[in-house]
Amino acid sequence: MKLGILSCSPSCYSSTRLRDAAEHRGHKVRVLNTLKFAIDLEEGEPDLYFRSKHLSHYDAVLPRIGASITYFGTAVVRQFEQMDVFTANSSAGIANSRDKLRSLQILSKHNIGIPQTTFVRDHKDILPAIERVGGAPVIIKLLEGTQGVGVILADTVKIAEAIIETLHSTRQNVLVQKFVAESRGRDIRALVVGDQVVASMRRVAQGQEFRSNVHRGGKTEPVELDDHQRETAVRAAQIMGLKIAGVDMLEGQDGPQIIEVNSSPGLQGIETATQLDIAGAIVDYIAAQVDFPEIDVRQRLTVSRGYGVAELHVPEGSEFVGRTIADSGLRDRDINVLTLHRGTTVIPNPKSDRALEAGDRLLCFGRLEAMRGMIPGRVQRKRRLKVLDLPDEAGELGADHPRGYYEPDPPHEEER
Ligand SMILES: Nc1ncnc2c1ncn2[C@@H]1O[C@H](COP(=O)(O)OP(=O)(O)OP(=O)(O)O)[C@@H](O)[C@H]1O
Ligand SMILES: [Mg+2]
Repeated sequence: MKLGILSCSPSCYSSTRLRDAAEHRGHKVRVLNTLKFAIDLEEGEPDLYFRSKHLSHYDAVLPRIGASITYFGTAVVRQFEQMDVFTANSSAGIANSRDKLRSLQILSKHNIGIPQTTFVRDHKDILPAIERVGGAPVIIKLLEGTQGVGVILADTVKIAEAIIETLHSTRQNVLVQKFVAESRGRDIRALVVGDQVVASMRRVAQGQEFRSNVHRGGKTEPVELDDHQRETAVRAAQIMGLKIAGVDMLEGQDGPQIIEVNSSPGLQGIETATQLDIAGAIVDYIAAQVDFPEIDVRQRLTVSRGYGVAELHVPEGSEFVGRTIADSGLRDRDINVLTLHRGTTVIPNPKSDRALEAGDRLLCFGRLEAMRGMIPGRVQRKRRLKVLDLPDEAGELGADHPRGYYEPDPPHEEER
């Protein structure tokens, strides 16, 4: 295959290792500086120029998009997607994972362990928010922090409140997060490739430091993950929309707690700690998957008028409980079951003789009118109530701001 590695640092450890691994396996490979692309849009012909010349054909690209160029970098990746080139990580996945708040919001819907987290804006909401995540000591995180900078452990509620107020006054967005005390000074990095963890290490802080980042002096050691940790890491990457990811988790009392999913995981630390050929595993995975470029399923399926995707629930006492999918009558109503979610397991393409259980959730594609009546009223009512509960201005959702953007208060009435 012909592989393009999108990176602004062609000579860094990860780029070099990936290029060498691809060459070693007989692939054609080039490191392409992400910032040297031009994106051309024309009806029916999405196109790319590189250093002002028409880009030659590539079978696959491996995006290594740094945090400072997320907007342009994800636009380039999205363009490759429009051109049906296989992208090892999707543009949506990269954007999702880039923002700590956005990624936890997405994970929180999926029964994945995360430290309880809250995001507040109003001064009056700060104290109740700290209490909701378990009180002091409490973690305060800047949305745009990295390498441990901007992660603070506040010992008392008063100190936490003062720090949050100070950060708000400097127009910084902060997360308030439960301090997972049992994991103090330790976290786990799992390197996910496809649906497997190919390597894992533990980072251990030195001395009194609670942050285990290598940049804060943390030491690394290889670690064998248990099944639950492995499955959590893989699911977190999948939910984010990433096929290659560095998943960071704390070792909580009740199992792993995801703190972050990284779309361009550095290879040096983990290859050194584990002595594994991770670059090789990534290249092998891309070569095996190259025939399956990213398809935005929702977008493609919903262009058929009157058809769409919906999640149907099977509540206790439902007519579906105990019936097989074949006997449920869904197909007769022009509804196809794409996946069945049962607890934390996902069954893709469930067979027609599979019996349904209370609590199942069915991701379906079908006629919207036929599905409307099967979306539980309770869920709809709850949502509507929530919207009504909110004061007016909360309904005005802002545009997609760059990471860490702090929206100023709206001007007073007379200034408008
Ligand atoms: N809720 C928490 N409870 C206990 N320790 C935590 C918690 N959140 C973070 N830590 C510790 O602080 C370290 C840094 O936190 P985190 O990974 O969220 O930010 P970061 O490293 O600055 O961001 P990035 O990984 O994007 O560079 C973690 O590696 C972990 O050791
Ligand atoms: Mg981190």
